[in-house]
Amino acid sequence: MGIAVDTDTDMTGNTALESVNDWPSHGGQAAALLQRFGLPADHPLDDFSANLNPHGPPSWVAHFLAERIHQLDQYPEPSYHAARQAIAAQEGVSADQVLLTNGGAEAIFLAAAHHAGQRALIVTPTFGEYASACAVHRLTVTEHALVGPAFEVDAGELQASAAKADVVFLCRPNNPTGTLVSIADIENILACMASTATLVVDEAFIDLAIDAKPLTPLLARHPQLVLLRSMTKFYTLPGLRLGYVLARAEHIASLARYQPPWSVNQLAARLVAPLLDDMAFAQRTQQWLANEQPRMGRALAAMGLDVVPSHSCFFLVRPGAELCQSGISSLMLLERLLHQGMLARHTYSFSGLNGGWLRLAVRDSSANDRLLKVLHDCVC
Ligand SMILES: Cc1ncc(COP(=O)(O)O)c(C=O)c1O
Repeated sequence: MGIAVDTDTDMTGNTALESVNDWPSHGGQAAALLQRFGLPADHPLDDFSANLNPHGPPSWVAHFLAERIHQLDQYPEPSYHAARQAIAAQEGVSADQVLLTNGGAEAIFLAAAHHAGQRALIVTPTFGEYASACAVHRLTVTEHALVGPAFEVDAGELQASAAKADVVFLCRPNNPTGTLVSIADIENILACMASTATLVVDEAFIDLAIDAKPLTPLLARHPQLVLLRSMTKFYTLPGLRLGYVLARAEHIASLARYQPPWSVNQLAARLVAPLLDDMAFAQRTQQWLANEQPRMGRALAAMGLDVVPSHSCFFLVRPGAELCQSGISSLMLLERLLHQGMLARHTYSFSGLNGGWLRLAVRDSSANDRLLKVLHDCVC
């Protein structure tokens, strides 16, 4: 049985009673949406539903993997020393403060396993895997909802809730809002938390962020801080799975006990150092983001959409008041976009959003132009 989502109160005018479980739980799941809206499986689509760097993977990756394919007959080196050393050098921490993981997703589940059976606070709306990991490891979950149309943090309330939690999950920049909790607020939260509690900050999008610095320097003075990273978004390698955790050495050793042996495959582990060395790819990516992200934000707002001020490579949008008055809803936009070959991310699976918003990834300039044109035709 799906969880019923009452859309009667939905500002976008969606009227159907939707069920969370009727919708795919992540972006990039075109087949399920095409089927839902009665479109053929081969309907051509531009995917704006997954937040991936449109420039990747770096061009040399295919050759690098092909040259090492014969190494699949060996186990990976179990401590992943070379990969952890490369990450440590880049992050300015020691190698025993790094745990290599099978994507950011595994890092989330390890962070929850460490607090099995305890009390979690999740700052919502956010990535659904924190709640899933807490459910698997039987944590009791309380949510702290970001407030207002700009999804801001209520610092006092968040600190009070954090003081009662054994683990706080916070995503920075946050998926799906793109919003950023300030470093001052992070330090205030840490100050309120028990010494045995942890603040888990998912920085999966920090390398695809604008005007945002990673929290790595805080690790030296805040033993309760745990940072989760993903390498799948920046390097466009979601099929390969690569991520890591940064924390104090004792916490890393504790998380490692929950990780299955050889969790990261041999080829992925070998890719870490050369990926981090590819400065040209990083610069190209940063240049693209600096150009396209603000341009898309302005263009979407100019169309009459409410656009949440985002610090990352995606925007949470919904029809603004005037468009709502003309009867346009987010669900309607999603369907129209799909018919026109554009896949947006629905928001039925994000706590508190009830499908009333859509998340749109920023892609390369020509794909973005195509999206803007189609959206313009949908709302005008
Ligand atoms: C906020 C956030 N954290 C972690 C992940 C998982 O990333 P990975 O593909 O590295 O497992 C995602 C994936 O969408 C995400 O949005």
